[in-house]
Amino acid sequence: LPLENKLFVVGIGPGALDQMTCRAVEAIEGSKFVVGHRTYIDMIGDLTKGKQIISSNMGREVERAKIAVEMLDKGPVSLISGGDPNVYAMAGLGLEMASKGGSLESVEVVPGVTSFAAGACRAGITFRETVAVISLSDLLTPWSEIEHRVQLAASSLMPVAIYNPKSRRRNWQLDRVLKIYQELGRADTEVLIAKNVMRSCEKLQWTTIGELVKCADLIDEIDMFTLLIIGGRGMTRGGNLSDSSSINIIGVGPGDPRHLTNEALGLLKRSQKIFGAERYLDTVRNIASGDLISHNGPFNERMKKSYLAAKNCSNTSILVGGDPSVFSSAWRILDESIRCDPGVHISAGVSAFSAVAARIGAPLVSDFVLLSGLKNGNFERPAGSAVSAGYDMISDLMSAGFAIVVYNTNASELPELMEAISSFDRPCALAQDVSRSDESLIVSRTSELETLIRGHNGMRSTLIVAGPKSYIKNDKIITQRGYESKYSY
Ligand SMILES: C[S@@+](CC[C@H](N)C(=O)[O-])C[C@H]1O[C@@H](n2cnc3c(N)ncnc32)[C@H](O)[C@@H]1O
Repeated sequence: LPLENKLFVVGIGPGALDQMTCRAVEAIEGSKFVVGHRTYIDMIGDLTKGKQIISSNMGREVERAKIAVEMLDKGPVSLISGGDPNVYAMAGLGLEMASKGGSLESVEVVPGVTSFAAGACRAGITFRETVAVISLSDLLTPWSEIEHRVQLAASSLMPVAIYNPKSRRRNWQLDRVLKIYQELGRADTEVLIAKNVMRSCEKLQWTTIGELVKCADLIDEIDMFTLLIIGGRGMTRGGNLSDSSSINIIGVGPGDPRHLTNEALGLLKRSQKIFGAERYLDTVRNIASGDLISHNGPFNERMKKSYLAAKNCSNTSILVGGDPSVFSSAWRILDESIRCDPGVHISAGVSAFSAVAARIGAPLVSDFVLLSGLKNGNFERPAGSAVSAGYDMISDLMSAGFAIVVYNTNASELPELMEAISSFDRPCALAQDVSRSDESLIVSRTSELETLIRGHNGMRSTLIVAGPKSYIKNDKIITQRGYESKYSY
């Protein structure tokens, strides 16, 4: 579409300008109007020079989305979200309002680095099997539903990223969450308190559920600029991390170089050697001037070999797909780095869930779960627990109101996956090679997807099943996030 007619719903990443993607910068620079929450408009500073800015405070989301759509007549508009627009942000409302105004076709959702992935990268966390993402804000979702989701995720031993953990007025919900973990005998579970991630006042602290219950000072630290990552199966933590290291693990995003962050771009340009799988090297081929070296050897050894080779040269990058914290093999390097000098720096990226969600609209704007490797024996029943295992767990998660994202699907697991989701009637999509030239997207309903994908090879595919209260319009999935109970619009 010509720029004049575009409404960009832009994710600006967690805070620092260098965590914005090239596409986000391009969208804002190309816009005549910038609409957003005051805090986010302040963060993007100089980028808004010469543009008409319409900013407002918290709680005025509907108004901002309406204004953005109205402005479209007069020129391109950027509607700003912190982090990623699908994660508790403006993608749903932006699409909904554009659809009411008859301009759905004009919307481009620009994915960004969401704050839990940024926090995980800063702390050396990698999720290897699953992670649940839950907001404790009960302004738009009834508390009983949120509590049920926490209970389900905690009893399944999933790592959980908690957004909106506490505000001045919402101060008891976190205590309830801690109690659920204590009642499950999980007081020893590690918790990362990540405050103002990738902003100048960033503070990261590790503690445990038990400590957090006892320590009022720690609880006092937690506010609306904080997220928590509660540990669970498949989550690893550690590594010799160093901001100034000459060895960088870089999340290259979904494939299109425009989804690289500014930081990644700078590091790649300065790297003398860049190691990675051919597919990731393709993303950076026209950007980097250093040597591009394809990983080789047995799969398990490749990352370690690249790291050992990188140690002998100055300024190097090792590429992983998407974001390093989400189902990548960055953990192999982090593991190795513990025994070695120099350490490594991790550069966050746009994970597949953000990229796919943006392409199909707004399927994730409420709580969701990322899953990987269902075929590899993960998601067994936790010892002595009544929680479902394997594909049955997907039904439980969907019944509890989670949206679902399954990474690394393959042809052999598609039939079982289809069976698990088919009894629900929700919008969903199977996406392959998103943002690459051979992208394929199938948007459908869970009850019909199986017929549409017969014979699909499943390779490099991600399945998204949208949350409840979602619908399909013009091949876009739009999820309502409960604003209708707060406003009439
Ligand atoms: C309305 S949600 C927006 C989330 C955003 N769309 C994203 O993808 O990160 C706001 C919540 O996100 C979390 N958050 C956003 N940016 C953060 C940061 N830089 N550091 C820590 N938490 C952050 C906090 O839990 C905060 O209360």
